Amino acid sequence: MLLLRRCHRLNPIGPLSIDRNQVAPVVASCAVRLCSSSNDQRFHQYGFSASWRHVLAGLLAGTGAVLAYGLHRHKAIEKSSPLPIISQEEVTRHRSLKDGVWVTYQGGVYDITEFVSIHPGGEKIMMAAGGAIEPFWSLYAVHNQEHVLEILSEYKIGELKAEDLKKQSTFKSSDPYSSDPERHPALRTNSLKPFNAEPPPEILADSYITPTAFFFKRNHLPVPQVDPDLYRLHVEGLPRGVLTLSLEELKTRFPKHTITATLQCAGNRRSEMNKTRQVKGLNWGFGAIGNATWSGAKLRDVLLAAGYGPDVAQWARHVQFEGLDKEITGSAYGASIPINKAVSEEGDVLLAYEMNGKDIPADHGFPIRVVVPGVVGTRNVKWLGKIVVSAQESNSHWQQKDYKGFAPGIDWDTVDYKSAPAIQELPVQSAITTPAEGSVIDRSEEMLTVKGYAWSGGGREVIRVDVSVDGGKTWKEAKLKSSDKEEDQTSPPLGRAWAWKLWEITVPLPPEAQELELICKAVDNSYNTQPDTFGPIWNVRGLLSNAWHRVKVKISEDDDEE
Ligand code: MTE
Repeated sequence: MLLLRRCHRLNPIGPLSIDRNQVAPVVASCAVRLCSSSNDQRFHQYGFSASWRHVLAGLLAGTGAVLAYGLHRHKAIEKSSPLPIISQEEVTRHRSLKDGVWVTYQGGVYDITEFVSIHPGGEKIMMAAGGAIEPFWSLYAVHNQEHVLEILSEYKIGELKAEDLKKQSTFKSSDPYSSDPERHPALRTNSLKPFNAEPPPEILADSYITPTAFFFKRNHLPVPQVDPDLYRLHVEGLPRGVLTLSLEELKTRFPKHTITATLQCAGNRRSEMNKTRQVKGLNWGFGAIGNATWSGAKLRDVLLAAGYGPDVAQWARHVQFEGLDKEITGSAYGASIPINKAVSEEGDVLLAYEMNGKDIPADHGFPIRVVVPGVVGTRNVKWLGKIVVSAQESNSHWQQKDYKGFAPGIDWDTVDYKSAPAIQELPVQSAITTPAEGSVIDRSEEMLTVKGYAWSGGGREVIRVDVSVDGGKTWKEAKLKSSDKEEDQTSPPLGRAWAWKLWEITVPLPPEAQELELICKAVDNSYNTQPDTFGPIWNVRGLLSNAWHRVKVKISEDDDEE
């Protein structure tokens, strides 16, 4: 089909202003291909339409891992050469599904009509239709990779006219990530642009409050530069009209509240689920979680000041947030939470301006971020620009077409994002931070200390962490810590356990064992616990990955060392 459509478009009798001398061989080659049904079969045999769909998803949707998916099925199709010379004017005419969608890349012209029509994120690429794709790739730099270019090359239909190419190169594409902040080199980077990184997990349980520099960073877009003096927060959707607040007003008009809350990305521990069966997304280890103190105004107080009251409660169901980080399409990062969480006194939702006692750093949302304790990281919108009280959820990609959980039988070809609710409260989670996988323990030490973190969403307190050193045959209860100070181990109010617990246990080394499988599992105060394996909770995006955490270590005998 695609070949057929491409050939039609290259028909010299049609309206195209393609260099006639060079069209003929291409048309001839198309004709040859079309005459051969075996070529058509080969097209399907190579899984081209699926492959293309996955490449598009990767190109646009914001997850580099998508790109990898399906690439192994890709095989090159011979291209006829030379390709026609196409003017920019002609490319510009192809800006719709009806007329075809063409883009240019480094002097090549590509027909991506099929690409756009079959992918849900396709509307974004329409912004590039008829023009250069380079500015998109400078935004979604993770996709500007060799294997993507290789696949794109199969869809090349011509060369851009030299003089048009020259005009393009005078347009300077600046790197939107060039003003991203400095980061600590110890962070393990999952993607550079946008920046996504986690700390070495061994340090996580060393401090109840995660040092800001080591707090995981999860960005979908470049970090926006915000001038605190010019910053304005707009609160919309209420009958009284828009309330606009400066940073100063947020700090002085509303009481300052401080909470300690754990933030966890829905993709934390994805890499373990990925080992069961391939999923899509950044390959997070178990460090996409951190615990910090957050200070700011309560969202409830701001909504009340903006006119929230019983009349609004009749129809309002959600509070939407928009970040100041924007996609190339101009649409902002966005998410929403249920209104009850937002306005509840006990919900503790903050418009935070401090993290660990200092101004929120650029990577974490300067100058204001929403902190929705007990709720998945993605709803904790950074660089907050707008709040909208609404009867509807946020319409953003991240609320509607990502961060949802699906059954293990659903794959990328069958997933229907409308069929599942957006993730809000996260399930119970725990992980072993030390010893690390593959560590070698000296038998002469006789005792082994195992440490880790445990947390549950929705304010449910972790009441127990069970640890096994023999692959789950026997279990012991770890000691829980809710502060670094021994004397300060108070329980949070019921339903408001926003912060994780660190845990620790020291056990004798089993006498005969040469290898140990360490396991931890947490239990929260609703007696929810973690599943033992990933198979039954596997989902295509690798979210909510909370099976028992297993770590294998070796025991070295004294003899081994001689
Ligand atoms: N807010 C904006 N504006 N842009 C983003 O990319 N990422 C979300 C959330 N808020 C994001 C955002 C996701 S997916 C997570 S897990 C958390 O921020 C991560 O917060 P952190 O980077 O402060 O750890």
